[in-house]
Amino acid sequence: MTNKPRPVYLNGEWCDTDTARVSVLDRGYLFGDGVYEVIPAFAGRLFGLDEHMARLSRSLEAIGIAEPLGRDDWQAIFDRLLAGIDAPDAAIYLQVTRGAPEKRDHAWPGDEVSPGVMATVSPIGAIAGGARVITLPDARWARCDIKSINLLPNTMARQQALEQGCDEAVLVRDGLVMEGAATNLFAVINGRLVTAPTGPRILAGITRGLLLDLVRDERLVEVDESFITISALREADEVFLTSSTKDLWPVVEIDGQPVGSGAHSGRAGPVTRQLDQHFQALKHPQRSSR
Ligand code: PDD
Repeated sequence: MTNKPRPVYLNGEWCDTDTARVSVLDRGYLFGDGVYEVIPAFAGRLFGLDEHMARLSRSLEAIGIAEPLGRDDWQAIFDRLLAGIDAPDAAIYLQVTRGAPEKRDHAWPGDEVSPGVMATVSPIGAIAGGARVITLPDARWARCDIKSINLLPNTMARQQALEQGCDEAVLVRDGLVMEGAATNLFAVINGRLVTAPTGPRILAGITRGLLLDLVRDERLVEVDESFITISALREADEVFLTSSTKDLWPVVEIDGQPVGSGAHSGRAGPVTRQLDQHFQALKHPQRSSR
């Protein structure tokens, strides 16, 4: 990764990651009062854009911020960001906050304060190897479906995983597996693909949704959207994580124990590999149609 400044759209102006400055009164900065999206682009093409924009609208509506820009305005911003980065695969990061009123106050400001809008871009690096994960109690709030910029419990969980030499934390509530700190989780159990149902306890991941559509359309494997227990997770045949920047990421170890058994123990299993192949074809339709 290079240290070259990257382009930034900030409240109607263009600057870069070295020069962009936000107000200390911005409520995103003071309260974490805002929402965000991470939209990947593969070979210069935005992937899952409609789904990401629909989720942004849902998050904005859920926290009572008016849509700050129309779809064409967003598109123009994304085009300029992607033109300004020299990487085959990139992730657009955008966030909308409740803006910067004259003073800090828990009460929301009125319409006279416009939302704060920021968007930038960064390269997506390749993932090397399978994920080693730890399980942790889910310390988040009860509206995990809102893609809030308030990510303190998620960052603490991820940090704890890293400090234990692992890659991701899997969050467990009342003995049931929710998702990763910044990923959704899938398990293959007795030939079925199981993942937590959408609702207030998890983020409805776009990768999750696109993968489930693909699996159902192409009848690849039976799907079961239900919560699994931590002990079922430990006995699963295969486990993988999904996110916009990590695609399907095989889990090879949970709390120090290898995932799966036999030849696939501690390695990506056959269902994960098959689904990943189909997902790569979805990401790169121009390659697979040749
Ligand atoms: N995180 N669950 C959580 C808690 C997440 O933060 C994310 C994404 C996902 C996967 O969602 P999607 O497939 O839409 O990326 C699930 C992003 C990438 C992040 O915070 O950087």
